[in-house]
Amino acid sequence: MIVHDQILPSLYHLERLGIIAEISICSQSHESVRRLAEAESLARAFPGQSFRMFPAAPSPSPQPALYREIIAALPPRQIVVVALPDQLHYEAILEALRQEQHVLAVKPLVLRYGQAEEIAREARTRGLLVGVEYHKRFDDRSLMARRAYREGRFGEFRLGTACLFEKWYYRHSNFQNWMTAENSDAFTYIGCHYVDLVHFITGLLPVSVSLYGILDRFPNGNQGYLWTDARVIWNNGGSLNVQNALGFPDAAPGTNTQGLTLFCQGASGGGLLSHSDQYRGLKYCYTNPVSYQEPSPDYFQYVDLGGPGLAPVGYGYRSIEAIVRAAIRVNAEGPAVLEEIDRAGIIATPGNSSYNERVIEAARESILNGGREVRC
Ligand SMILES: NC(=O)c1ccc[n+]([C@@H]2O[C@H](COP(=O)([O-])OP(=O)(O)OC[C@H]3O[C@@H](n4cnc5c(N)ncnc54)[C@H](O)[C@@H]3O)[C@@H](O)[C@H]2O)c1
Repeated sequence: MIVHDQILPSLYHLERLGIIAEISICSQSHESVRRLAEAESLARAFPGQSFRMFPAAPSPSPQPALYREIIAALPPRQIVVVALPDQLHYEAILEALRQEQHVLAVKPLVLRYGQAEEIAREARTRGLLVGVEYHKRFDDRSLMARRAYREGRFGEFRLGTACLFEKWYYRHSNFQNWMTAENSDAFTYIGCHYVDLVHFITGLLPVSVSLYGILDRFPNGNQGYLWTDARVIWNNGGSLNVQNALGFPDAAPGTNTQGLTLFCQGASGGGLLSHSDQYRGLKYCYTNPVSYQEPSPDYFQYVDLGGPGLAPVGYGYRSIEAIVRAAIRVNAEGPAVLEEIDRAGIIATPGNSSYNERVIEAARESILNGGREVRC
């Protein structure tokens, strides 16, 4: 999904701009890469562009280890994008680093703090970049909030709420094969965006988590925590409630519902930051077919800028571009750039964002223990 919706179009655009050269994509089966290659929206936006497919031809069984061969055959210091199910990130990222490759990993980086530390060490030793693709950081509203908060204009964060509910129909997707109770849950999968964002804006660090989850069944019968409610306490005593689910009505407008509200305390009054991250001011009622939608112009859209094809715009594209350009800079200017990136804190790396793994690890322990508070 994420490769089709955001990553591949962003890479195609970078290829079109001459910033990257050849793109190869490896999945477990030829059918899934072929479907991607033939996707209509991509063909319309990027006429004449393609990628090398692995497996190159249909095979009798899935090939989960093939990516290792593909990475091993690359010249050093290319960029490997890891967009596998959450619980497979760790092995694939380490494999890429050990083969001297920079990494762009979708969030969550990994599910354990120790794994994030190990990845950070491996990358540092080899002078390689690992960029975690927390694209909400590249939404201008997040950058505006970060700047204003850090200038002291909101006061200090006290209580907040965040939510991100994906549409009900997600239950019918490939998620039912991997977002199961033993691997992940709605908070781990998507709530991590808002935990990351609260740190990104405020600079605060989480200290404990309680995560309550409701077990539900995917259409294929697998069990998952498809509804979750988290409470994250921060190192200034502030508290953030995060609700997540694969449960937003299919008939509702938009592809999800999401947002963040922070109540803050100033010297002599209250501060407020409230972002509707789903409703961005657009109300569209189409006639063919009939539907009411509230599209977001900000995450990822294709626009016609005069061709060829269509140009991807939005923070989904900007986030991929920033990580790719950073890896190119590391190659050109040397490992000192890595320290600068870590310190700046705009691109998430294992070195500057492993509080996310602390939260996820504690959250997984909490959800499996009925929501008890776990320190992180
Ligand atoms: N908002 C976001 O930031 C966002 C949104 C969606 C997904 N994600 C993340 O992206 C990742 C993938 O999610 P998705 O929605 O694209 O899931 P998906 O199920 O659509 O895609 C995962 C793909 O990985 C492939 N795969 C599994 N094992 C493999 C192996 N060993 N070798 C090669 N391919 C393998 C599967 O066949 C599938 O094509 C997850 O970590 C998810 O949390 C992030």
